[in-house]
Amino acid sequence: MKKRKKFSRNKGPSVPALKPHEIGAMRDAGRFAGELLDAVEDFIRPGISTADIDALVDEMTTARGAISAPLGYHGFPAHCCTSINDVVCHGIPSETRILGVGDIINVDVTPIVDGFHGDASRTFFVGEVTSIARRLVEDTYASLWLGIAAVVPGGRIGDIGHAIQSYVEPRGYSVVQQFSGHGTGRVFHTPPAVMHSGKRGTGAEIESGMTFTIEPMINLGDWRCDILDDGWTAVTVDRALSAQFEHTVMVTERGVEVLTAGAGELASIAASGVSLPETVRVGGLAGVDRNSEGTKTAAAVV
Ligand code: MF3
Ligand code: CO
Ligand code: CO
Repeated sequence: MKKRKKFSRNKGPSVPALKPHEIGAMRDAGRFAGELLDAVEDFIRPGISTADIDALVDEMTTARGAISAPLGYHGFPAHCCTSINDVVCHGIPSETRILGVGDIINVDVTPIVDGFHGDASRTFFVGEVTSIARRLVEDTYASLWLGIAAVVPGGRIGDIGHAIQSYVEPRGYSVVQQFSGHGTGRVFHTPPAVMHSGKRGTGAEIESGMTFTIEPMINLGDWRCDILDDGWTAVTVDRALSAQFEHTVMVTERGVEVLTAGAGELASIAASGVSLPETVRVGGLAGVDRNSEGTKTAAAVV
């Protein structure tokens, strides 16, 4: 996610709509981001270090002939971000941070494929976690999909934040304000800032062809963050748990296509209890026809 201050909200040109020949490259980048996270998911277990996860992302990215956008981005020293427990985002992989049973860890990857960025993250359980942690992660996942379901051409960016906020706040969580989703494409981070709370009908207009991320960071306690002395790691001010999921999406003529879905995404969505409107197409899935009508379900259940 990008720091909110980098781009003033709702000002300046939004990420330019993609030309038809660029759409394929964006889909490839998104699909590969989903594949990276599928591999990370299989790899996560107690006893490995976050540097081991980074090495996996590095190897797969190199093998694909892709580039890790985070590496060297404003000096970031690794291929992905690994954010454990009270770390909100931008955790730096380290050989000394060993995963333990009960941890929750977000892994955020952004491969560049043929010049286009696919930006996605998931929060994983390390062995058994507390029921409170499990619920936080599951509710954060559901909130991402409710945000995605709010994306339709002619709508407003504020509709997305509204959908997320109105789901998580009644459940007792808070929404991080310091970081937002963002336009992405040839450039990693562009306007518009996609806040994860907000008012319906406000903000920039959502237009067909736009590509941007939605990446809610949801906290068990206080919404505020501190940045550690490494200049990157964002932690909750009260050191309570934080969870995050991120997808890159492309606005279509009728709704939205999710570019960074994983192989198990449809099952995960079903387990979350969210039913997607017909306007949402879940792309990148093995065995799913990308040109089909998308998932056919009723309106989002909250
Ligand atoms: N992938 C993050 C995002 O969702 C950005 C990471 S920038 C880094 O926007 F430099 F920390 F890698
Ligand atoms: Co992002
Ligand atoms: Co990301």
